[in-house]
Amino acid sequence: MRPKVIAGNWKMHHGPAATRRFFSKFFGEFSPRLSGAEPTILIFPPAISLLAAAESKGGRPEISLGIQNIHWEPKGAFTGEHSVGMALAAGARFALVGHSERRHVFGETDAQVESKVAAAMREGLTPVVCVGETLDERRDSRVQEVIVRQLDAALLGVPEDVKNSILVAYEPVWAIGTGETATVDDVADAHGILRRRLREVRGDAFAQEVAILYGGSVKPANAAELLAVADVDGVLVGGASLDPESFARIVESG
Ligand code: PGA
Repeated sequence: MRPKVIAGNWKMHHGPAATRRFFSKFFGEFSPRLSGAEPTILIFPPAISLLAAAESKGGRPEISLGIQNIHWEPKGAFTGEHSVGMALAAGARFALVGHSERRHVFGETDAQVESKVAAAMREGLTPVVCVGETLDERRDSRVQEVIVRQLDAALLGVPEDVKNSILVAYEPVWAIGTGETATVDDVADAHGILRRRLREVRGDAFAQEVAILYGGSVKPANAAELLAVADVDGVLVGGASLDPESFARIVESG
């Protein structure tokens, strides 16, 4: 069985000092299990706080860090962007790619998602590819079409010979930061669609390796129920990951 993945996306919150405070409180709140499968914890701070996060987490093997966005070029005149190499040097091992805020606020395209996945994989960061439909797309019964299109574009960036390679996060846009959570049935449907598509495009062995996370208003009160849904291998948490106590409670649900 895949260990559960509990990921926190801090978005544009917690600079370096707040990051240090988060970790010292989080370690007080959360005690690693003595037995049984430990969830994998991923934290995505703002890029400017990665070094502080890496220093604060020290050698704790159960926690890995990620960057919220990368550029596909290794260097150059791209004001405000970060390369994969820079993210690695600052302590990141994972990268969010195609988060709905990147797609819908900053106009990121499927082609850019493909380039970012390819760059991450080439240089050694594991991409966490986010997919999800808007409310209008759901009302128009286009959930499958949209998330399969977004997944297919991302998979184009994954070299053919790669096995354990990416994570996928299903995050319905209308459930992000709104307090609206998708129903257990909606989540099961979407995750089933994604797992089937992974199998169709890359075969069974590949599909079984990929952890599919759910994201969108996950909080301590609903995490256990969501984590129990078929094909849900973890959660990607925004707002509720900012507070060390609430994030620790979600980790304990994993
Ligand atoms: P939310 O954000 O938990 O605040 O809804 C989730 C995300 O955007 O990853």
